Amino acid sequence: MGTALVTGATSGIGEEFCWQLAAARHDLVIVARTQERLEELATRLRQVAAVRVEVLPADLSDPGDVARVARRLSQPGGPAIPDVDRRFAGDVPVREEGGASLEADRGPASALATPAPIGLLVNNAGFGLGRAFLEDDLAAEERALDVMVRAVMVLSHAGARAMRARGHGAILNVGSVAADTGMGTYSAHKAWVRAFTEGLSEELRGTGVTATVVSPGLTRTHFHEAAGMELSSTPGWIWATPDRVVSSALQAVRRGRTQVTPTPLYRATSALTRLAPRSLVRAIVRRVPHT
Ligand SMILES: NC(=O)c1ccc[n+]([C@@H]2O[C@H](COP(=O)([O-])OP(=O)(O)OC[C@H]3O[C@@H](n4cnc5c(N)ncnc54)[C@H](OP(=O)(O)O)[C@@H]3O)[C@@H](O)[C@H]2O)c1
Repeated sequence: MGTALVTGATSGIGEEFCWQLAAARHDLVIVARTQERLEELATRLRQVAAVRVEVLPADLSDPGDVARVARRLSQPGGPAIPDVDRRFAGDVPVREEGGASLEADRGPASALATPAPIGLLVNNAGFGLGRAFLEDDLAAEERALDVMVRAVMVLSHAGARAMRARGHGAILNVGSVAADTGMGTYSAHKAWVRAFTEGLSEELRGTGVTATVVSPGLTRTHFHEAAGMELSSTPGWIWATPDRVVSSALQAVRRGRTQVTPTPLYRATSALTRLAPRSLVRAIVRRVPHT
């Protein structure tokens, strides 16, 4: 079974990635800033899903921390898996015909003290700023750029090179339907993620490694509250669940697809946004709270 590294693992979409990957028998390396929440999630994943979990605390706005995570992606050679987890050595393949193999070179149980190569990198960590660009602190804007653009670039570089050398693996980047709108720097970051992933996917063609971007619409997580966005009056049908977003993202990876927008509502919204005159899109976006 392949090991997956998930950033932003402690909440919302990232946590759901962990549970669905663990249910599919993937071991995990989980990354976020808060060590306590990482440890708590790791304990639950080990107990409930019986997979091996490495905890890798990192602030992805910090270049030193990003370099540490990149080193883990480039190895074998990083932090060892605790003894307590060595007993879990299931072997159930999760490959669909023609799609990416998420399997890594998992050795025999006796070799498990060596950190497993990462077969799937999920660049998921991100946050909304909740303020207009000129009203926001420039340092906060720079942190957002570092987490949602710079870290995605650095980790994809390390992950894709290591996977290409092994001849298999997958990169999954979390974008947003906001990439189609002109909603401030958040949209710009997610437009970068989409364009970058498309380019990476082409570059990786024929190597056995794939790159996929998932573009969710509004999804019920901690994201909006953390950004101070007031969306309590939005109707329930507008919201996707993390479960739906993650299952469609992982299905796209297994099929080797480059792009996926989960749920029919947001596929339609995305198509309309691309067809509509930009002046109309901007007029609508003016009425929406800042992301
Ligand atoms: N929810 C939506 O409506 C929606 C829609 C489209 C796209 N997305 C995208 O989906 C992704 C996940 O968002 P979510 O909705 O699941 O939000 P969430 O529930 O707020 O989770 C965000 C995760 O990112 C981590 N994180 C934040 N800043 C970090 C940093 N500097 N370094 C490392 N980790 C960091 C958080 O953990 P710590 O705080 O412990 O670091 C947390 O695990 C983001 O890329 C977001 O842009 C969300």
